[in-house]
Amino acid sequence: MCKVTGVVINRQVLTVETKGFLHISPAEERDVIAVKEIADRHRVDFGFIPRVAFYEAVDKGWLLVAKVDGVVVGFVRFRHRRDKTTTLYEIAVANHIKRQGIGRALIYRLIEHARQHNQLDIKLKCPVNLPANHFYSALGFELVRVEKGKRRELNVWRLQL
Ligand SMILES: CC(C)(COP(=O)(O)OP(=O)(O)OC[C@H]1O[C@@H](n2cnc3c(N)ncnc32)[C@H](O)[C@@H]1OP(=O)(O)O)[C@@H](O)C(=O)NCCC(=O)NCCS
Repeated sequence: MCKVTGVVINRQVLTVETKGFLHISPAEERDVIAVKEIADRHRVDFGFIPRVAFYEAVDKGWLLVAKVDGVVVGFVRFRHRRDKTTTLYEIAVANHIKRQGIGRALIYRLIEHARQHNQLDIKLKCPVNLPANHFYSALGFELVRVEKGKRRELNVWRLQL
């Protein structure tokens, strides 16, 4: 690992706790295998996501990846809806590197991306029992309501942009 500590967002370098060089960028096709691997390891959190969903997201520019020293360690998949809401579908960070600010950096980059597309808010649904709910709360998302999902209850979170 190199010594530089930072995350590049629009050419600005923000400090994070990781020891490598963190870069957040739109995913390319070659990143999909690594993204899918991380997604599969979090299947209990957000279910099965077919590979094609990630390729489609790459095409649309709706998949951001976090890389440390060039290796994919996290991703966020989303959609900018025409009604000006951005839907966050999944976010995940590799287990060995959790709680080092990478999820936060992905959300910051998503916020920036959504603002550039004139979106008004970011919304997502998260099963009520997941620790990720603390993450959304820590990042300033507001709990809108609790919904009955197909298999479990879901918190609906919203971040106004
Ligand atoms: C949710 C997730 C993406 C967060 O990524 P991360 O890189 O570990 O999170 P960060 O280090 O950026 O955390 C930022 C803040 O969120 C909060 N937070 C993150 N994970 C948390 C946890 N498990 N429990 C409590 N608070 C948590 C903390 O306040 C943290 O700041 P701190 O470490 O300074 O206390 C990651 O834990 C993950 O991949 N989870 C499994 C997949 C998942 O559940 N996705 C969401 C489905 S709805």
